[in-house]
Amino acid sequence: MKIAFAAKPANGTDLYLMAVTREDLKKIKGPHADWVNMLIDAFPEFTGDPGDIVSTVLPGYKYSRFGLVGLGSGDKRTRLSLEKIGGKLMSSLITLPVNDPYIELNGFKADEVAVIASGATLRAYEFRAYMTKKQDQYLSDSITFKSPSPAASGKAFTPLDKSRAAVHWARDLGNEPPNILHPVSFAKRVVAKMKGTNVKVTVFDEKQLTRMGAGAIMAVGQASEQQPRLVILEYNGTGKRNSVPVALVGKGVTFDTGGYSIKTADGMVDMKTDMCGAGAIAAAILSLATRKAKVHVVGALAMVENMISDEAYRPSDIITSLSGQTIEVTNTDAEGRLILADAMWYVQTKYKPKKMIDIATLTGAALVALGEEYAAFYTNDVSLGRELEQSSVDTGDKIWHMPLDPAFNAVMDSGVADMRNTATTRWGGSCTAAAFLQRYVKDGVKWAHIDMAPVAFARGEYALGPAGTTGFGVRLLSDWVENTK
Ligand code: BES
Ligand code: MN
Ligand code: ZN
Repeated sequence: MKIAFAAKPANGTDLYLMAVTREDLKKIKGPHADWVNMLIDAFPEFTGDPGDIVSTVLPGYKYSRFGLVGLGSGDKRTRLSLEKIGGKLMSSLITLPVNDPYIELNGFKADEVAVIASGATLRAYEFRAYMTKKQDQYLSDSITFKSPSPAASGKAFTPLDKSRAAVHWARDLGNEPPNILHPVSFAKRVVAKMKGTNVKVTVFDEKQLTRMGAGAIMAVGQASEQQPRLVILEYNGTGKRNSVPVALVGKGVTFDTGGYSIKTADGMVDMKTDMCGAGAIAAAILSLATRKAKVHVVGALAMVENMISDEAYRPSDIITSLSGQTIEVTNTDAEGRLILADAMWYVQTKYKPKKMIDIATLTGAALVALGEEYAAFYTNDVSLGRELEQSSVDTGDKIWHMPLDPAFNAVMDSGVADMRNTATTRWGGSCTAAAFLQRYVKDGVKWAHIDMAPVAFARGEYALGPAGTTGFGVRLLSDWVENTK
């Protein structure tokens, strides 16, 4: 979708949409006042709420269609609220079969217009790679927004659009079916996407992972025809060779059957999205690199498929992780923490980061605790927690602070190995998973864990996207990397 900014509509514009706040409706002036008042009279249900849209065909007028779209109340003007205005606008626009509409926005500065446009494009996502027929929404090839300074809006829009492209890529990765996106093809896609950027990509295959001792990743992935991959991304935009990177680690389970601790049919349905943590990190780094952010970041994406075969790992197996710590497998469905343990250990050993964040669709328990609105987050450092919460508020990727506690750690002890992979209690499953992960955080490393199981997948549309995978974490993490002290 091409976004343009202009002071006036082009000749032959198909649809002229005037964006109005509730307050605007009471005092309509300007060249279209008659048409606007006619529409308001004809459609009393139009109140100017965000996403309200009405339009009519005007035979003989210079635009074939003329309409109004609501902006809600004109008061709060944070970046996120402007993005949501754009998102709502787009959600209405895709119900109309028009091409290249012109949207008249009044009372917004040039950079605010750009933010509204970027919110609209964030919402204008669709995943239709495998639909050969159906078309129930209309994504226009291009949209033109009125701006007080088209050049300034265009300039402000460029980086926002790169961030948008990264979010859309993360959604694509999550929406891909597991027969297409498996560990081997996932790694290839990341390599291909990073071509032409300054991101250095290293892919470890099953032989290299076995040799290095990544026993946890290999155990989880060993049943699948598509063998595990560990993909390391490094982007250094600081201009300093010796800068210390921050580390991001993501769970990339391309399909989670549960293994021999098999899931129910219903429980398995959305498990193609179990790689969204890894997708979020790849996309966050893409966003930073394409915007040439002055940051140094390393990403580790642990990619496996959790399957069943005569080579699968079993409950009761004892595996040796890359750290040397042994793990009694008490449940093969608690696979995410296992692969994260090795990936976290690898980045800490190789890159010596002072700060590390992992993100994963880790537990159903996080959904039980927080519903589908918030990701659960845990941290061993108060100031890191504050930074993340600030990025969360600014980007709209919502997180909620959860407890780390010695009691949650104690129930991870095993009688036959250094630890179990599930707790001895069924309660607090997201908290005990975090306690497991903390055993793989080195001394002195500031660490946060984000359990994004609640928010990876949206059942219905929301302000900035349609139903499907959300791209959660891309904006949160890229914002945090840019702003961390
Ligand atoms: N991928 C799942 C977690 C999940 C569940 C994500 C629902 C999204 C929606 C994870 O690998 C898993 O199976 N976790 C188990 C852990 C349990 C065995 C301790 C769970 O939550 O049931
Ligand atoms: Mn699982
Ligand atoms: Zn899983």
